[in-house]
Amino acid sequence: MNPGSIGNLEVNSGNSGNRGIILVVSGPNLDLLGTREPAIYGRATLDMHIQAAAEEAKQLGFTIEHFQSNHEGEIVGSIHSATGRAVAIIANLGALTHYSWSIRDALAAYDGIVVEVHLSNPVAREEFRHVSVLAEIAEGSIAGFGGLGYILAVKAIHALL
Ligand code: DQA
Repeated sequence: MNPGSIGNLEVNSGNSGNRGIILVVSGPNLDLLGTREPAIYGRATLDMHIQAAAEEAKQLGFTIEHFQSNHEGEIVGSIHSATGRAVAIIANLGALTHYSWSIRDALAAYDGIVVEVHLSNPVAREEFRHVSVLAEIAEGSIAGFGGLGYILAVKAIHALL
């Protein structure tokens, strides 16, 4: 499998680490990264962020799986699929972060570690971004460091497991 071509698929599957799968879930509009509001989100694409996270994961013995959707129900399904299969979820749910109770409940039902990631720092932005309905059920949240956040999340998962 070509680790450079990352849609909703497994990365590093040929070299999967024995520490388990980390599922990265990306919410609405993150598929537009690279061209979406670059002054806020930078020029890197989502694939580039996932690839960097996959490289870090590989070093630490994990395999990254990535799922991106613009549809809340699909994201809920992807989180359900992680129970008993993935050791951790890295969640950047985009704007759903601020109001999706169904995603919050799905993450609460998940039996592994949840790390919330944001490229930007939502609390330094518009007021509607100041609340995360996911933060309460996450192990921790990383925000404001751009793509580095995904790498830090992998390191945090490694330290916690
Ligand atoms: C985001 C922050 C959210 O407020 C926004 O809706 C996004 C991206 C981030 O990564 O900074 O879509 O999750």
